[in-house]
Amino acid sequence: MADAAEKPSINGRRLISQLKTLFSLPKTKRTYGFCYGLVFAFVAVTMFLAFTPSSNRGVSLLLPNFSPSVLKKQGSENLVEKLTDCDLFDGEWVRDESYPLYEPGSCSIIDEQFNCFVNGRPDNDYYKLKWKPIGCSLPRNSVKNQSNVYEANGRHNFRAEASSSFVFKDYGCTIELFVSPFLVQEWETLDKNGSKKETLRLDMISKLADEYRSADILIFNTGHWWTHEKTSKGENYYQEGSHVYTKLNVLEAFRRALTTWGRWVDANIDPMKTMVLFRGYSPSHFSGGQWNSGGQCHQDKFIKNETDLSLYLPKLEVLDRVFRGMKTPVSYLNITGMTDYRLDGHPSIYRKQTLSEEERKTPLMVQDCSHWCLPGVPDSWNELLYAELLRKQENTRRNVGN
Ligand SMILES: *[C@@H]1O[C@H](CO)[C@@H](O)[C@H](O)[C@H]1NC(C)=O
Ligand SMILES: *[C@@H]1O[C@H](CO)[C@@H](O)[C@H](O)[C@H]1NC(C)=O
Ligand SMILES: *[C@@H]1O[C@H](CO)[C@@H](O)[C@H](O)[C@H]1NC(C)=O
Ligand SMILES: *[C@@H]1O[C@H](CO)[C@@H](O)[C@H](O)[C@H]1NC(C)=O
Repeated sequence: MADAAEKPSINGRRLISQLKTLFSLPKTKRTYGFCYGLVFAFVAVTMFLAFTPSSNRGVSLLLPNFSPSVLKKQGSENLVEKLTDCDLFDGEWVRDESYPLYEPGSCSIIDEQFNCFVNGRPDNDYYKLKWKPIGCSLPRNSVKNQSNVYEANGRHNFRAEASSSFVFKDYGCTIELFVSPFLVQEWETLDKNGSKKETLRLDMISKLADEYRSADILIFNTGHWWTHEKTSKGENYYQEGSHVYTKLNVLEAFRRALTTWGRWVDANIDPMKTMVLFRGYSPSHFSGGQWNSGGQCHQDKFIKNETDLSLYLPKLEVLDRVFRGMKTPVSYLNITGMTDYRLDGHPSIYRKQTLSEEERKTPLMVQDCSHWCLPGVPDSWNELLYAELLRKQENTRRNVGN
């Protein structure tokens, strides 16, 4: 089970999901399969992970029992115990020759735009760096047989879908991805002169919520779309009830949307049945311009010691306040800082294999400095998620034991 074999990377419209492992839990009363899905969403998109063990719905707690082979392989039986007291997000990037977890270019479902290796990126630090928290080490695990992972509806073009569902057959596990960049609902309303106009309903949870509410594990994320022109200008865009604000500050809109989300979670999610996680903002690194004005990150190196998160702080503070106002416990995957070190992890000019005539002339012009190469940085988010699930389970075990 713990073989460091290849694992699949699955990529929905800017979404990627990966299954790390499954645990079989022989418990006294019943035996059931439990699996862990590790997931990440790409920068500009929000996604939900609905995580559904196929056997035995109604499992309520994340019960303990770590596959001993996983632990032996990591060389420490205290591994999981160490995780429980460790700040997973405080650490450094170190080169590890055993990385990445799957051969670069081996995964057929990674989007071309993130498949940097296949697109000719010559260096390899970007997939050989491992996140090392100061107080512990992240456990690793991966899917053994990629051919037993597939899209449930046989869709190949899942990038265009609002949701997709990946089956990990060997583990009795399904990972569903829902594209909902704001968490709240995009809307249309009529102008004074009768023409249709796009708005964002700050007071209404995404209509997809009905579909993911029954998942065992939910992972939310929202971020970059709150920096786009419409959202940051906030003119005649944000709506509550029938009221469209002529102007509303984006941070206030963000706060209201997140509050709507928090209320929905509190009203609809039973924390005894469903674990809720929220993955933080992943920074982009354009220098000398923005994504549409010549911003670059080509050949940037990762930074080791200092990052400036001030740009993100106001939104992170909103998140923090919303979490504290909720009754449902939310595990916060605080990846903003560790990700901000990784200037080198973006596709930059390796976002495409075949460039257009125009792009060939100016290959440095249009760079992607907000999404991530795969293998690469998002694999580490998945390792963090995995560690978070393990320690949640360990905490539950301790509480049950007491
Ligand atoms: C992977 O699964 C496929 C389909 O079930 C099977 O044919 C193949 O032998 C498996 N490969 C390995 C290495 O187990
Ligand atoms: C309706 O008003 C919007 C601005 O509110 C304007 O952009 C649009 O052109 C108008 N449409 C017509 C048909 O007058
Ligand atoms: C960060 O590292 C660089 C070189 O690696 C060094 O010059 C600089 O002083 C360091 N800054 C801090 C705050 O440690
Ligand atoms: C998240 O991590 C950063 C360091 O990367 C730290 O400064 C911040 O306090 C953390 N936030 C929370 C809510 O733990």
